[in-house]
Amino acid sequence: MDINFLKKELSSILSKKRYEHSIRVLETAIELAKIYNIDLEKVAIAAILHDFAKEFKRDELVSISKNFFKEETEDYLDNIEILHSYAGTYIAKNKFNINDSDILNAIKYHTTGRKNMSLIEKIVYIADAIEPKRDYPHVKKIRELAFKNLDKAILVEVNNKIEYLVNENLVIHINSIEMRNWLLKNKLIGGNKL
Ligand SMILES: [Fe+2]
Ligand SMILES: [Fe+2]
Repeated sequence: MDINFLKKELSSILSKKRYEHSIRVLETAIELAKIYNIDLEKVAIAAILHDFAKEFKRDELVSISKNFFKEETEDYLDNIEILHSYAGTYIAKNKFNINDSDILNAIKYHTTGRKNMSLIEKIVYIADAIEPKRDYPHVKKIRELAFKNLDKAILVEVNNKIEYLVNENLVIHINSIEMRNWLLKNKLIGGNKL
């Protein structure tokens, strides 16, 4: 799959701001993929396409979710922040003929994470959270951790995210909670101390 072709397609559908974010996520994901020794092409495809549906209209997001991801999205249909990941997966599969489950899952779970994430899912998830222009509390720490210990980085990131969602009185996706519990339970972080 030609990454430049995907970039071109993306630039024609996203605003400049979101397109540039996607390019930074791509670059960050490639850096991480090199460190963690994972297929660069798969990571690149997932990273460049992760936000393809970010600016789709609400109706379109809801319709794709209801039709193709019914059970997974039925509790979250009013949350377009979550639905764009599912719509992106649909586009990867149907517009770009991507059938690789690693790539499709990395797109599908880039917003919420999930338990039992694969390495490529973790890389796209955290690259999205730490790309150089991201600016939120603890981002520096998370960015540093990502290059040393992915699981720790994700744990700090999801703790942060959950704290924010609680403070803003927003819904927490069940997958994010399960991901956090999974990281803790499996002691993937090497003890509870951060
Ligand atoms: Fe996204
Ligand atoms: Fe993103």
